[in-house]
Amino acid sequence: MTTTRELRDRTEPITMLTAYDAHTASVIDDCGIDILLVGDSMGTEALGYDSTLPVTVDDVERHTAAVARGSDDALVVADMPFLSVGVDEAETVRNAGRMLKDAGADAVKLESGPHTVELTERLTQLGIPVMAHLGLTPQHVNQLGGYTRQGTTEAAAEEILSLAHAHEDAGAFALVVEHVPANVAAQVTEALDIPTIGIGAGSDCDGQVLVISDVLGLSKNAPPFAEQFGDVRAAMTDAIEGYKTAVEADSFPADEHSHIEDGLDDLG
Ligand code: KIV
Repeated sequence: MTTTRELRDRTEPITMLTAYDAHTASVIDDCGIDILLVGDSMGTEALGYDSTLPVTVDDVERHTAAVARGSDDALVVADMPFLSVGVDEAETVRNAGRMLKDAGADAVKLESGPHTVELTERLTQLGIPVMAHLGLTPQHVNQLGGYTRQGTTEAAAEEILSLAHAHEDAGAFALVVEHVPANVAAQVTEALDIPTIGIGAGSDCDGQVLVISDVLGLSKNAPPFAEQFGDVRAAMTDAIEGYKTAVEADSFPADEHSHIEDGLDDLG
């Protein structure tokens, strides 16, 4: 967490990407990305659900363990799934604790609101570093009426600022700000000592995060604020079609992919 504070003072912004498996985590880590977020976006990006709501503590724990095993340097943050925090304090602590004790995460992220201020304080006191998350919090999609821009009125923007302060005071080490006007995110960033990491929140945050499948060009429904930096779907399609064609044409496997064992030509 000290490192994250140091990152805020660095000239380049903090970089964060989601990861859900060991191979992808290893590639992202080798690229020097600062933070790997095992987001509950795994629900839509890896597990085939329509939203993040069905994601379980077991899901996040298993994928966090894979990401932690696949990476060496990046900070690994496990995203606490819907209803895994806030229902009961002891259960919240146990669930968050599993991410550090059993899965190897360095910190947890909570989709935040008035209900997570005390929880953030409790988890921090117990030695579980907390990244807060304000603005669009997808676990509230049923109340928000969709994945809509947040903080667009003065009252809503003031509430984000006030909750940002409350979570900083409660001990959060960083804050994700999602899908809010750039000028609101800039003022939140200016007002806090902890780093802000924006997604759809303009360029004045201390860092940026995106969902890996959006960056790679694998998603079918990327949000408007994401940028596709590659076309991995096309690369995968080429490789898979190449394999299919080779098998169908009997050119794979070739001799170099097989071996013959002497004395085993006459079985039965
Ligand atoms: O679950 C997730 O991937 C997230 C990021 C988009 C911040 O919460």
